[in-house]
Amino acid sequence: MNASNFYHRALVTSLLVTGLVSTAAFAQSESVGGTLFQGKCAACHQAQGQGIDGAFPALSNNKLVQGDTMALAGVVLRGRGGMPSFQASLNDVEVASILTFIRSHWGNQADSVASAEIANLRLSVAAKENVDRAQSSTQY
Ligand code: HEC
Repeated sequence: MNASNFYHRALVTSLLVTGLVSTAAFAQSESVGGTLFQGKCAACHQAQGQGIDGAFPALSNNKLVQGDTMALAGVVLRGRGGMPSFQASLNDVEVASILTFIRSHWGNQADSVASAEIANLRLSVAAKENVDRAQSSTQY
């Protein structure tokens, strides 16, 4: 085998390994998201995301679920109406895993969500709160 053949093989092998590892990592975060969904959300939104008419909105075939990531994450972090806030009880990776799961099940087909997006959202909300606090405590 000549050198270029060797490098070619090594490259193909490393691409294959990288592909397998990232597929495995994706499959794992998928199943983590599914497990978290069943534990934290399904009591209200139901196991297949179908919701309960008049009480809990369906997350299946849902526009907001498939829409802007920040708007969706905002609902989960802050809560809304009868839905509790998950700001304190879920970390960035957990929120991203749950959102990735619900965005790719029950008829929903939207991109996965990265934990960095959730971290950024928390930072921007915290920064805004600091500005509000600073402004409201300014003495003239
Ligand atoms: C205690 C019940 C309860 C739990 C637990 C709960 N939700 Fe909700 N959720 C609600 C209710 C009620 C609403 C509607 C809020 C409103 O009226 O604005 C809602 C709304 C939503 C919406 C907005 C849907 C839309 O179309 O506007 C999303 C997305 C959502 N929930 C996701 C989740 C996720 C993800 C979890 C788990 C981390 C979760 N919820 C846990 C009760 C719950």
